[in-house]
Amino acid sequence: MVKAWLMQAGPFEAQYPKYLKAMLQNPRIPRACHPVIQENLHDELGGGNANAAHFELFKGALNAVGVSIKEYEQARLNTSTANILDSVTAVCSGEDPVAALSFITQVELFTPPEYSRIIAWFESLFPQTRAGWEAYFTVHIGCDEHHFAEMAGALFGLVGEDPVRQASAFNWQNIGINLDHRFYDELQQVVQAA
Ligand SMILES: [Fe+2]
Repeated sequence: MVKAWLMQAGPFEAQYPKYLKAMLQNPRIPRACHPVIQENLHDELGGGNANAAHFELFKGALNAVGVSIKEYEQARLNTSTANILDSVTAVCSGEDPVAALSFITQVELFTPPEYSRIIAWFESLFPQTRAGWEAYFTVHIGCDEHHFAEMAGALFGLVGEDPVRQASAFNWQNIGINLDHRFYDELQQVVQAA
């Protein structure tokens, strides 16, 4: 299950900087939102240390559970994973800034509780290689809580008191949560069928 999770979570991690860059290049995203997105991107890329880029930490986690990069790259993408990747790409470069910020805010909100649970799986299966996989999770738990708070602040600024925009924000967050549920449902089905 842990290996199957890494195979599906990796492509999202690998592409996350691209989503943030797409938002920065999207003329529909107001300038006022840029500092928060830029800070998030800076953290993703390792905060000035390329070895600490999140995808590098991810590769460390792969290595710690005995999955080669080749094996990871050849893994089949689940349909629900592909749906997430396609949806985030579309939303971040799309016409609706509320959609983009709502979606990303939801992602940041859910990472800490999700990763806390996933750490428990890793702990039970790979306690001896903890040093190799731990940083990937603790870095996310440590920074996504404040990313969420900052991104939510940018989103609230964008939505203001407009009830239509508020409803749209909740709607897009629901879409994100639904995609996440399907990701875990399919992951479980694929693992059970194997
Ligand atoms: Fe990340």
